[in-house]
Order: sequence, then structure tokens, then C-alpha cells
Amino acid sequence: SPYLSTNFIGKYYIHKSIIDSTNNFAKEIASNAPDGTIIIAEEQTSGRGRLGRSWLSQKGCGIWMSVILKPDLQPQQAINLTQVAAISVVKAIEEIVNVECKIKWPNDIILNNKKVCGILTEMSSEIDKINYVVIGIGVNVNCDNFPEELKGKATSLYLETHSKIDRKKLTGSILNNLELYYNAYLQKGFDYIRPICIEKSITIGRQIKVITNEGEIQGYAVTIDNTGSLVVDTKEAKRISIMSGDVSVRGL
Ligand code: BTN
Repeated sequence: SPYLSTNFIGKYYIHKSIIDSTNNFAKEIASNAPDGTIIIAEEQTSGRGRLGRSWLSQKGCGIWMSVILKPDLQPQQAINLTQVAAISVVKAIEEIVNVECKIKWPNDIILNNKKVCGILTEMSSEIDKINYVVIGIGVNVNCDNFPEELKGKATSLYLETHSKIDRKKLTGSILNNLELYYNAYLQKGFDYIRPICIEKSITIGRQIKVITNEGEIQGYAVTIDNTGSLVVDTKEAKRISIMSGDVSVRGL
């Protein structure tokens, strides 16, 4: 692609017209695939979201893509790669579409209070070594017929801007930005990524609810700390930090 200026991400790529899920496929081939291999599909028949949800992936309207990475990191440091991917998508949308998106911590991309992109990071690791990470990115680019039950919550770049976007250009920019921020994260750590995550956050400064394994927590989102956790002042007046969970932001 003329839009790709990376050293390794996207150098090997597999394009499918139809597939169950690019993340499933990526996990099948990951052990034998070079670092930075990407899988792109025109359509997914069982696109997967976080927390066992499904992800609608209609034909030819979105970017349904998975990136295989093999970082030399501790498994717990790989959690932040979701945020690395999220800021990469936000920067790419700014570059190509010229609109500002926000990140609902840790990884939903929000435009005009609706979701335009979701990220599903999956990992295979041993005690202290990562075998591979698969970052699945789903962007609703030119989609224009969401089912009724998604209409208030999901949108596409096309529905918000009224102009069709070149998916190849946007894909190239996502991968260029991903390589940039991924390298920065590997070399400089989360400190380098953190200010961008904070600047683009739609969660910080708002009342939120978080579903965790221990139950539901309500509180006020204060900041993102230097490990990438969300810092929350609970309504019981305790300050806690959350590494992952399902966050709902009041009003979204
Ligand atoms: C979420 O918001 O819950 C995450 C959605 C992730 C969707 C992408 S589309 C490409 C990749 N393949 C999948 O099955 N899911 C991810």
C-alpha cells in the first residue's frame, strides 16, 4: 500500500473477503507468523468484542483487522498495548478524517458520544514471557445501516461526517501510528503514552460505573496513573485504581 510507511507492522499481510473473526485467524497462525503480520477482512461472520460480546462487521464498510505482535515484555505490561492501539486510531482519524475522537478508557473510540471503534487485545503468554499479542481493531468507517438496537450507541465516521472515507488510507495511517507509538512504548514505557491517553480521555473528570469481578463500583474518574490504570474516587470516599473492567460513563 502506498499509504504504509512502517518498518515491520503490515509488511506481511493476509487479506480475506470473508472470515469468522480476524482475531481467531490471527491466533491460529500467530506462532508461525512474523512480528507485525496483519490480517484484514472485508466481512466477519462472528466478529468478537470484549467481554464475550459480538461485533457487527458488515461487508466492505469497516476496517476489520488484527495485528500480531511479539514484544519482549512482561505479560502484565502488554495490557497497555490496548491503550497504545487506541491512541493510534485516534491520531489516524484526526489525520485522515479531520475530526477529534475521544477514548472511553481503556479502549473504546467515541465520536459525538457514540462508539466508532472497538479494540480487542488477546495474548498468549507463559509465566514471564509473551508468545504473542493479537490486537483486533474494528472501525466503523462507511457503515450506514446499524440495526435499531445499536443506533443510539454505535456510529460510523461516514454517518458523523457525511463523507465517505478511503479505508486504505485510514488503515495505512492506523498502522503507521501504531508502529510509532508501539516503538515509543517499548523504548520509553507508559510515561510517554500517558499524556496522550489523558488528553484524549472522555472518562476522566466524569461520574462512572465500573463492573469488576468484585461487583459494581460507582465513583468519579480522577486520572490515568503511570501504569495505565484508571484512578477512581468511589462514592464511599475511597481512592482506588482499576486495571481493567467495563466502564460506563454517565451520559454516554
Ligand atoms: C469491543 O469494542 O468490544 C472490541 C471490538 C473489536 C472488534 C475487532 S474487528 C477485528 C477483530 N476481530 C474480531 O473478531 N474482533 C476484533
